[in-house]
This record gives sequence, structure tokens and C-alpha cells, in this order.
Amino acid sequence: MIRVDDLHMHFGGIRAVDGASIEIAKGSITGLIGPNGAGKTTLFNVIAGHYKPSSGTVWLGDEDITGLTPHELFHKGLLRTFQIAHEFSTLTVRENLMMVPDQQPGESLVDVWLRPSKCAREEEVRARADEVIEFLEISHVADEFAGNLSGGQKKLLELGRTMMVDAKIVFLDEVGAGVNRTLLNTLGDAIIRLNKERGYTFCMIEHDMDFIGRLCDPVIVMAEGKVLIEGSAEEVKADEQVIEAYLGRGLKNRPAKKSKGGSA
Ligand SMILES: Nc1ncnc2c1ncn2[C@@H]1O[C@H](COP(=O)(O)OP(=O)(O)OP(=O)(O)O)[C@@H](O)[C@H]1O
Ligand SMILES: [Mg+2]
Repeated sequence: MIRVDDLHMHFGGIRAVDGASIEIAKGSITGLIGPNGAGKTTLFNVIAGHYKPSSGTVWLGDEDITGLTPHELFHKGLLRTFQIAHEFSTLTVRENLMMVPDQQPGESLVDVWLRPSKCAREEEVRARADEVIEFLEISHVADEFAGNLSGGQKKLLELGRTMMVDAKIVFLDEVGAGVNRTLLNTLGDAIIRLNKERGYTFCMIEHDMDFIGRLCDPVIVMAEGKVLIEGSAEEVKADEQVIEAYLGRGLKNRPAKKSKGGSA
């Protein structure tokens, strides 16, 4: 569904992505792991249209989508969530969801009198938001300001945003980070159901190997801007290169380097 060919993204002298090639099969939940600073988020940023790559190509099916804007990609059903949730804190959960679809009409009396179809559309969007809220089991906070949600609930809302349109492929950047076990299960179940019942393809960056192991096949491992290997969660966990990448500069013994964006 997505193919990335020999992608480079350089920031001055920093080779954040340094010749990465990956494929994400339609219908898969593909995991993307790697030590801090491996280039995972940068790869997402390029695929999702936030950066134009220094070189390389991104394909969506047969279409070259390199350099399209996030807005254009949104209309092709390619969505992403952010490592740090970016809810509108002074809007309610329901309102946050209702913001997502394009050309969201505002409510006004003129609309009610002259453009009944516009209001019908608003009702449709509201009904969809309620459906998403129910799906994610967050009905008890539907009218809460999003800014008051727990970290985990904000992550559910991030996922919920992708359900407000007919997404085909969704890129999740550490959607499980900082989420407690109970909510993590809810989040995992929601991802699996979206995959199985609604045909969403996912590519997800995570550091939690249990979560990755439960959801993802295959798992792609990146280090220093390159793809190290791809395999099942079990295979990559047992791979010497992967262990070296993590032990050398990764999760354990890692130098006190602050990664850009940090962990949400
Ligand atoms: N906009 C930018 N300008 C300059 N350097 C950047 C930029 N974005 C990322 N980098 C650098 O590129 C490298 C890869 O960063 P990236 O955020 O993609 O890593 P990551 O694998 O997502 O790490 P983490 O697991 O910590 O989120 C890092 O060295 C980072 O500092
Ligand atoms: Mg990152």
C-alpha cells in the first residue's frame, strides 16, 4: 500500500533518514521501532507530507505521493497522529472530533432557514463523532474539555480523530507512550478492531515491545536513519543487530541526549 524508496531527509549535516526503504502491506499493522533519534518520526513526517525529502520516493499504491501536502494526503485517506497529542484544549472531546472532517459547517440560523442540507451535514458529523466516542468507550468524557483529559485519554482522542473520516492508512507515532495499562488495552483493542472491521492499515511507532508484539506484524527496525531488519516481533527481538542497536545507543546505556520532541 505504501512503498518508500531510498528516502533521505537531511537537516544540515544531520542525516535523520539516511537511505530508508520500507513497504507497508495493505491490511497490515506494521510496527516501526528503533532507538531514540533513529529517524522514525522524521520518516513519518516525510510520508505524511510535513517535510519534502532530500531525495527518494513515497508511493501510495501506484501513485507517487512524494511532496504532497498533509491536506492532499488527508483526502487520499492517509492520516497520522502526533508523538505529542495536539488536541484543542478548550473544545470538548465531541467538538474536537467534529473539527476533523473537511468543510465542517458552522451552525447559524441562516443555515437553518436557507440551507437545511448544511445542517443535515452537521447532524451527520455529530452522529459520527458520537459513534467514535462510543467505539472508544469515552462517553463519560464526551462533553469534557479536551485539555482536562488524562494523557491516555488524549491518545484515544488522537486515534478517534482518524475515525472521523474514511481513513485508509494511519500512521501512529507513539500513541501508546505514557498510557496506563488499562487504557493501553482499550487503545490496542480499538486499533485491532479498526484494522479487522474497517480495513484500516496501520503503521505504528512504539517503544513498548509487549504492545508491539501484541499488535504488529511485521516489525521494521530503524537505527541511524536506516532500516536494520524487518521480521516478526519475536524475530526482531532475538536479532543481534537489533540488540546491539538498542544496547549500544538505545534504551539502555543511552547517552544523556535529549531527543527532539521527547516522549509524549
Ligand atoms: N526538524 C529537525 N531539524 C533538525 N534535526 C532534526 C529535525 N527533526 C529531527 N531531527 C533530528 O533527526 C534525528 C532523528 O529524529 P527523529 O525525531 O526522527 O527520531 P525518532 O526515531 O523519532 O526518535 P524518538 O524515539 O526519540 O522519538 C535526531 O537526531 C533529531 O535530532
Ligand atoms: Mg519520534
